This record gives sequence, structure tokens and C-alpha cells, in this order.
Amino acid sequence: MYFSKIKYTGAYVPERIVTNDELEKMVDTDDEWIRSRTGIGERRVSMGENTSELAAKSAQDIIRKGNISPEDIELIIVATATPERITPSAACMVQAAIGASRAVAFDISAACSGFVFALSAADKFIRTGAYKNALVIGAEVLSKYVDWTDRTTCVLFGDGAAGAYIERSDKPGIIAEDIGCDGSKGMCLNGGYNTAANAFNDAEQYSDRFIHMDGKAVFDFATRKVPESAKRLLEENGVSTDDIKYVVPHQANERIVKIISRKLKIPMDRFYLNMFRYGNTSAASIPIALNEMFEKNMVAEGDRLLLAGFGGGLTWCSMLIDV
Ligand code: ACO
Repeated sequence: MYFSKIKYTGAYVPERIVTNDELEKMVDTDDEWIRSRTGIGERRVSMGENTSELAAKSAQDIIRKGNISPEDIELIIVATATPERITPSAACMVQAAIGASRAVAFDISAACSGFVFALSAADKFIRTGAYKNALVIGAEVLSKYVDWTDRTTCVLFGDGAAGAYIERSDKPGIIAEDIGCDGSKGMCLNGGYNTAANAFNDAEQYSDRFIHMDGKAVFDFATRKVPESAKRLLEENGVSTDDIKYVVPHQANERIVKIISRKLKIPMDRFYLNMFRYGNTSAASIPIALNEMFEKNMVAEGDRLLLAGFGGGLTWCSMLIDV
């Protein structure tokens, strides 16, 4: 039995910054409401680059930092809820863009929990000995699914991509995870719908690309499920909250993170927050944060982190990793 360990991280976000002040001119909102209700100050928005392009650029950042030879990459998993096509997958497009000709590549769809779900899957492939390494990316262009006239959703989301290169290791890196789903609450956060109309039935031809959300229901789900999941994970692995150097939460809403902090009894200064600058980038949110922490040298070999998230599906995730 092997272990897997994160060796390098990387990220790419579009250059275009959209501030709360700009949104004030588009919908009936204001900077004070957005900041106080969410903690978000600005977000990045794609000026035309699509999901696989962001994903490939974040992969190239990882490859550059790790001086990795693309032909040596054995597995690529892209977590995304916003791929540009049904096929090819974003992961196959990344494989081609970076020249990882030997890699098996596929996507995972678990919305904002997607990166941790993908990391969990990649870890299993490495633990069983099937592959020696994997590139795991979270990438989203949510802006193409946002109704920019709907103030209840358009202030929340941003675009971006980030990920990690993980490798077989003798020592545990990815220790364990607790991931789960409640499909019965799926419609609380939905988007990108097409009816099943075709040439043989009478179903109405109808598409609704926009994201719709029952914000309160998602808020309640997140503040209940994430602490429950994290507590279970810590307990099952005999890990105390004192052992956690930092929690890397999904960057959806600062108020949600404050409640999680209180319920876990881990002070807010041990939660890494960057939603002020990026908003909620769904599957890219945790790896963008993780990459910033690596770049700022906030974590050193042996530090223990707790990744914690929730999202569409509805899904939740918590994962313990040793750097
Ligand atoms: N600007 C000004 N007013 C607003 C805005 C806005 N952008 N959006 C909503 N309002 C109004 C509402 O219309 C409402 O007005 P009313 O009382 O006259 O009806 C009032 O503000 C309060 O609205 P609430 O929905 O009660 O606001 P709340 O405090 O619940 O905050 C929010 C809303 C920020 C969406 C919160 O519920 C939340 O963060 N929920 C979780 C959402 C989330 O994390 N989603 C992402 C999931 S991850 C993924 O998979 C993509």
C-alpha cells in the first residue's frame, strides 16, 4: 500500500477584475451589502477564455514550478461544473494542451466540492499502485452561467483554476477524507438545464443556462454539514483540532466560515480566506487558496491541513492532508 502526497500547486485566474462597485451599476446592490453578507470584494471574470483553457494554464503553472516533464504525468482529473463541451472532457483538453500524451484524463462533477472529490479519487489510484502521480485541477468559468441581472447570485461567483500535482510517497500526505452527497436537496443549487426533447418525443425544447439558488437553504446545509463532516473525520482519525495548522475552507461566504470556525472551535485566524479577491470560484476555490498558502510559504513540510467544503449536488467534503 502506498500513500500520495501533494508536491506542487499552481493556479491561473483571468486578469479582468470586477469590483462590487461595478456590480452596483448593473443591479440593485451595493458594496456594503455584498461585503457584510459574503466577505466578497471583487472577483475575476473570463474575457473569453473557457474552462479548459484556465485549467491548462493552471496545469502549466504547476509543471513549471515542479519542472515536471508532461510525458511523465499518468493521470489528469479536472473537477468542474462548467466544462465548455459535453465531449471532449476538460481533462482531455488539458492533456492535449500540456502534451501529457501518456496520461489518462477525465472530469469529475461535484460543484464546489469537486477538487476534494477529485483529490480523493486520485489518491485511491495512487494508493492501489495503479498510477504513480496525478495532476488534479479545479477549474470553472461560472460567469457564463450567471444571470448578470440577478442580484441574488451575480455578486457571489468568480472564474479561475488551480490544482495540485500529487505523487506516490512512503509517508502519508493525503491522510483521509469524509465526502458525501444529499441529492434530495439538489435543486437548492441548480443550473444549465436542457429538456430531453428529441425528434421522437413531444417534450418541449427548452434550455435555461442560468444558476438558480436557494441561498438560505445552501447556507443552512453548509453550516450544518461541514462541521459534522470535519468532526467525524477528525474523530475517526484520532486527530485533535490542535493538530490542524490551517483550515482551507471553500471560499463561498465569510459568514459560513465563521459559523464553521465556532462549531469546530478552531479560531478564525487558522482559516485561510481569500474570497474577498476571488468570490466563489466553485471547484477552483480550495486549490486557489491552497496555492496561495504554498506561494506565501505559510506551510512547511509536516504541517497538517484540513480542507473543508460544500456545494451543488448538494455535496460536502472534508479532507486531512500533511504537507
Ligand atoms: N444586494 C442587495 N440586496 C440583496 C442582494 C444583493 N446582492 N441579494 C439579495 N438581496 C436582498 C434580498 O432580496 C432580501 O431582500 P428582502 O428581505 O427585501 O427580500 C435581503 O437582501 C436578504 O436576503 P437573504 O437571502 O435573506 O440574505 P442572506 O443574508 O441569506 O444572504 C446569501 C444571501 C449571501 C446568498 C447567503 O444566503 C449565502 O451565502 N448562502 C449560501 C450561498 C452559497 O454559498 N452558494 C454557493 C454554494 S457553492 C456552489 O456549489 C456553487
